[in-house]
Amino acid sequence: SSRIMLGPLVAAIDQGTSSTRFLVFNSKTAELLSHHQVEIKQSFPKEGWVEEDPREILQSVYECMERTCEKLTQLNIDISNIKAIGVTNQRETTLVWDKETGEPLYNAIVWLDLRTQSTVERLINKTPGRNKNHLKHKTGLPISTYFSAVKLRWLMDNVDEVHEAILSHRAMFGTIDSWLIWCLTGGKKGGVHCTDVTNASRTMLFNIHTMDWDPELCRYDSRLECHLKSGALTGIPISGCLGDQSAALVGQMCFQDGHAKNTYGTGCFLLRNTGSKPVMSDHGLLTTVAYKLGRDKPACYALEGSVAIAGAVVRWLKDNLGIIDGSEELEKLAASVGTSYGCYFVPAFSGLYAPYWEPSARGIICGLTQFTNRSHLAFAALEAVCFQTREILDAMNQDSGIPLNQLQVDGGMTSNRLLMQLQADILCIPVVKPSMPETTALGAAMAAGAAEGVSVWSLSPEDLSEVTSEKFEPQINPEESEFRYARWKKAVQKAMNWET
Ligand code: G3P
Repeated sequence: SSRIMLGPLVAAIDQGTSSTRFLVFNSKTAELLSHHQVEIKQSFPKEGWVEEDPREILQSVYECMERTCEKLTQLNIDISNIKAIGVTNQRETTLVWDKETGEPLYNAIVWLDLRTQSTVERLINKTPGRNKNHLKHKTGLPISTYFSAVKLRWLMDNVDEVHEAILSHRAMFGTIDSWLIWCLTGGKKGGVHCTDVTNASRTMLFNIHTMDWDPELCRYDSRLECHLKSGALTGIPISGCLGDQSAALVGQMCFQDGHAKNTYGTGCFLLRNTGSKPVMSDHGLLTTVAYKLGRDKPACYALEGSVAIAGAVVRWLKDNLGIIDGSEELEKLAASVGTSYGCYFVPAFSGLYAPYWEPSARGIICGLTQFTNRSHLAFAALEAVCFQTREILDAMNQDSGIPLNQLQVDGGMTSNRLLMQLQADILCIPVVKPSMPETTALGAAMAAGAAEGVSVWSLSPEDLSEVTSEKFEPQINPEESEFRYARWKKAVQKAMNWET
């Protein structure tokens, strides 16, 4: 049978904390034509430590690309129509590799990892007035275990191989985007070592005003050309790179000052576009580079509320407690009771991120009675995701003075309809979910396409409203919602001070 002619296609590598995906879109319609997904293992070598194997991550990318190409061929779609590939990735996760052997020198230290807690305390103690926001005017970030610089410090101080490689000028540092792009463009045989401004803005080494590395620490070269040097896709340019939360903002078409989206992945991240101005938060949010779509285009900034644990709570209930076999069962159990029966679950496994930035907080489940069962716990876990988002939204509204009147959402957990309804109930505003949930990959593919002159469907505001597939309206009264939220806040206080 003859091959289907679709015009130019754009693709994205989406390397998240829990899984890797490769996705191919029709550039005319934004339709997802084919994709493949592979789960990523996480290891927890010590309490609070979270690592992933960089080789496994790379292998998963190859596997996803190969399998997607096979699927496209089965659909009679010519893969030579793919004109550009974008990379989008879990941010902050840090690794060091040897440029001569091409081998990682240690596992990747995942953004959730807490091993740098003492480094962070030491750094904060050194600042005048023990101020965790001491570097914020430059970086937009509080000093926290979350960001790459402290992870790199740990690697330099604690891994002999890293230390030696630095001394002999063989060490390469990067976040996951850098590692993948270097490997995919030739690795030790001339791979391109680069990153983009959104990932750079999460290292704590990057000045978000000058849009450059802090000159004392690093050098930066943005004029690079990257082409894939592997497998069936050899020669296709990697022409876009965005941290996954930035990519979701682009994929949700949040291009105007005030537009916002919330992505439910391993963690949960609410970003609000603040236009060409970096706005500093007074309510515990981060200031981050949202995107810069082209060398001569201006940078756009965002306020970000980061929640460390969202989808990760599902994996914890499954792998650590063994009380569910996956997210579908979680939804079923929670729906069967429709209430937590007064049980509150604060999953502060990696401390608490926004708006508290408290690395010593720990998870807590409270309000238990003999009546409580795993269904109530399942409900409390879903509610925790919603309450955390509510805290972020409140901070965002206070910072901007203009409350959001609805929330655009995306990410894996949005397929959970109960969660979406709960979210609307707890925020007291409608929650809007796009028909195509892969907005992170779409954003990266759009950026890559634009760089190659493949204009990826320009949507007018009227078209945009048609893209919306589902709207969840609040169904409980605001008093009930406030009551539950107040209880949640009490539980958070216990998680913050559980040792005292
Ligand atoms: O900052 C971490 C974030 O980029 C990870 O995203 O989707 O893997 O939870 P996700």
